[in-house]
Amino acid sequence: MTGEHLPDPLPADPMRLFADWFEQALGDPRQPNPASMYLATADADGCPTVRTLLCKHIELDPGYIIFYTNYQSRKAADLDANPRAAALFHWDHAHRQIRAEGRVVRSPDEESDAYFKSRALLSQLGAWASDQSRPIESQEALMLRLADAVARFGVTLEQLADPSARTGGIPRPPHWGGYRLYIERLELWVGAQGRLHDRAVWSRTLAADLSPSPWSATRLQP
Ligand SMILES: Cc1cc2nc3c(=O)[nH]c(=O)nc-3n(C[C@H](O)[C@H](O)[C@H](O)COP(=O)(O)O)c2cc1C
Repeated sequence: MTGEHLPDPLPADPMRLFADWFEQALGDPRQPNPASMYLATADADGCPTVRTLLCKHIELDPGYIIFYTNYQSRKAADLDANPRAAALFHWDHAHRQIRAEGRVVRSPDEESDAYFKSRALLSQLGAWASDQSRPIESQEALMLRLADAVARFGVTLEQLADPSARTGGIPRPPHWGGYRLYIERLELWVGAQGRLHDRAVWSRTLAADLSPSPWSATRLQP
C-alpha cells in the first residue's frame, strides 16, 4: 500500500484529481496499458457486458472521457439501445481504482476526423477492413479485406512496411469514430491496509442538453 489518502476535505469537482491520476498512470512504466479501462454497457433487455477500451482523452469541463470504436460493433448496438455506460480504471501498482458512470453520445465528426488522422496507417486501414464484432470465416479472410483497403487507398509497400507511416489521405470510415461518456457519478478509490480503503463518490445530474449540475461529494466506507 502507498499510504495515500484522498484529500480531506474533498474537492468540489473531482475531474482534476481524475486527470492527475490518469496522467500519473501514463507516466508509470510499471503499468501496462495505463490508458485502458473496462467499459460496461447493457443491451435493450438490460443484459450487461464489458470489454477493454483505451481512454483517449479526459475533458475536465464539462467532464467527459472519450473512446474510439466501430459504430456498428456490439458496444455501439448497446449504446444505440441504451446510451449509458460505466467505465472502470484499475491502476494496480498505484492501488487506485476509478469508476465513471454516465451518458454516452457520439463525438462530433470533426473531432473523430482529427483523431483518425493522427492514427498509424495500419490502424487506419484496419478500421476500414474490420466490421468489428461481426463473424468472419478466417484470419486470412480478414487479411484479404485489409488488402482491399490497401488497394482502395493506393497505399504503397514502403508505407505499409513503416509502422509509424501516416499518409494523411485515408478518410475516416463512416462506421468508425468517438464517443463521449459524460460523467454523472465518479468514484475514486485508494487501497489501504486492513481493507480500510479510502473511497469517495461525486455525483451530479445532466440536463437533456448534457449541461451538468454542480457536483456533490461524499466519502464512502470501504
Ligand atoms: C488493451 C486493450 C485495448 C483496447 N482498446 C480498444 C479501443 O480503444 N477501441 C476498440 O474498439 N476496441 C478496443 N479493444 C478491443 C475491445 O476490447 C473489444 O474486443 C472490441 O472493441 C469489440 O467489443 P464489442 O464487441 O463489445 O463491441 C481493446 C482491447 C484491449 C485488450
